[in-house]
Amino acid sequence: MPDINDKYFLYTLVALAAAWLLPRIKRRLELSLAKHSSLAGHPRTARRISKLVPYYAFDEALFFKVDGAPPAIEAARRAGFARLAQTYATRFARSAALTAQAQAGISDLQFTSTYRVPFPFSRHVREHLRGGAFAAASSGVSVTDLDNNVFYDLTGSYGVNLFGYDFYKKCIADAAVRVDSLGPVLGAYHPVVADNVARILRISRMDEVSFHMSGTEAVMQAVRLAQYHTGRTHLVRFCGAYHGWWGDVQPGIGNPQTAHKTYTLREMHNSTLHVLATRKDIACVLVNPLQALHPNGAAPGDSSLLDGSRRAAYDRNAYTDWLRALRKICSERGIVLIFDEVFLGFRLAPGGAQAYFGVKADMVTYGKTIGGGLPIGVVAGGRAWMQRFHPERPADISFARGTFNAHPYVMAAMNEFLVKLECDGEVARMYLDLDQRWDARAARWNQRLDAAGLPLRVANMSSVFTVTYTQASRYHWMLQFYLRTAGLALSWVGTGRLIFSLNYSEADIDAVIERFVSAGLAMQADGWWWQPKGYRFKHVRRQIAAEMVAAHWRRLRAAAGFPAA
Ligand SMILES: Cc1ncc(COP(=O)(O)O)c(C=O)c1O
Repeated sequence: MPDINDKYFLYTLVALAAAWLLPRIKRRLELSLAKHSSLAGHPRTARRISKLVPYYAFDEALFFKVDGAPPAIEAARRAGFARLAQTYATRFARSAALTAQAQAGISDLQFTSTYRVPFPFSRHVREHLRGGAFAAASSGVSVTDLDNNVFYDLTGSYGVNLFGYDFYKKCIADAAVRVDSLGPVLGAYHPVVADNVARILRISRMDEVSFHMSGTEAVMQAVRLAQYHTGRTHLVRFCGAYHGWWGDVQPGIGNPQTAHKTYTLREMHNSTLHVLATRKDIACVLVNPLQALHPNGAAPGDSSLLDGSRRAAYDRNAYTDWLRALRKICSERGIVLIFDEVFLGFRLAPGGAQAYFGVKADMVTYGKTIGGGLPIGVVAGGRAWMQRFHPERPADISFARGTFNAHPYVMAAMNEFLVKLECDGEVARMYLDLDQRWDARAARWNQRLDAAGLPLRVANMSSVFTVTYTQASRYHWMLQFYLRTAGLALSWVGTGRLIFSLNYSEADIDAVIERFVSAGLAMQADGWWWQPKGYRFKHVRRQIAAEMVAAHWRRLRAAAGFPAA
């Protein structure tokens, strides 16, 4: 028989353990509830699952009929593909030849060319549709390749190209003249830096600025400062949001290491606000306002168009409310609110996303276009967050350097950009009725797509567009190749992101729409959008799951020494 004292001792132990455990379980549950249900919302699980995805490639026979297309459709697709391949081989010959020559030595190019389309199709596409990754010239809203093909540029140079390529060429040329006498001297500042600082502080309504070499570095620095000043460990990023390729802001697929100091939470959701209101380890919240176009969705690329579904819709009021709610909770909890405006920067308004949404952040990162065409990253913030040392504790510092920060040529090109942003009438005109103009263009585009009977729509956030698909298909990614032959240049993410510079005229847009529609009609005529009866996105997903199981099975058989079936 246990002694009564033993019993009380046991009860006390259990009670203590429960008192210790239960709040932790509760907080863990709350964190789980604040995660988006998609795989992107669970980066660690996504990384684990990514390792289980087996490679398989469709051979020539299957490539044209993975959806069970009948012989007539398969033949139409084959003929269309052969025609495209022929066009590519003749029209892009020089660009393709140089690409083939250089590719083995350029890791980035190998990656982007492999991941242009869903992987089971990639090998066959790379063998036959060699587009080329080189360009020779740019002018107005166009780029020209090595074969003298002129394309409407929908790449936007990853967002850098806001006011048109000629604008940036002039920024760079004038900058080079202005800093010519100092040249590439580093460490000592060219006087133009002082004017840049004054302008960025005025635009951002912040107290201090730091210069970096890329947007990724700017984000690293903003997060590091937030951790330094709050003494807290964790950063919050939202599901799907891109903030550069630094590991802590990319905790899922793509990062070989687990990011232990990152919470990936659900954007535009009350459970996230609850987590921010209750946890004590959160240093900062990173917001990429571009996510307003597809909250909680990963950056849309055609390689992830597996089942063909892609959702996008921008609601300015709803996103503004969300930012206000974030602002309030961050202020209450001493969490640093960081707007990552590296991509959207001055695309929404001359004052950036802060001015556009009417919400003030604690720190802002800029990049891309603010460099006037040269590489850049900028952090602007309140003094309390930006300082890198404690006056009372001289050894307690937050260190940040960078050989090329404040490079004279970059600073002068930036100055050209900033001066024009604030003072140039032509630039001011581009901002007039900006959203209405681009929304009207998107509406016109969608009317044309509807009238043409194409399963395509566009969605936009100001001048950033994405293509969505109204039916299930395994072949939507083919559109990017038809678009290229129609004279529309896309970046390697294909139809996921079309970025317009603000100097696109109505006539340019109409031309883009017509080319887009004619490319869509050609693809439709070639049978790629044929569907089995009742085909839905879920059917495609099931089919892909079955393909993966079969691929694993083949591997197991091969490992066990069985001949290929
Ligand atoms: C929102 C955002 N933050 C950071 C980055 C990283 O900038 P960079 O590519 O200059 O390192 C990007 C790049 O696309 C971005 O879109």
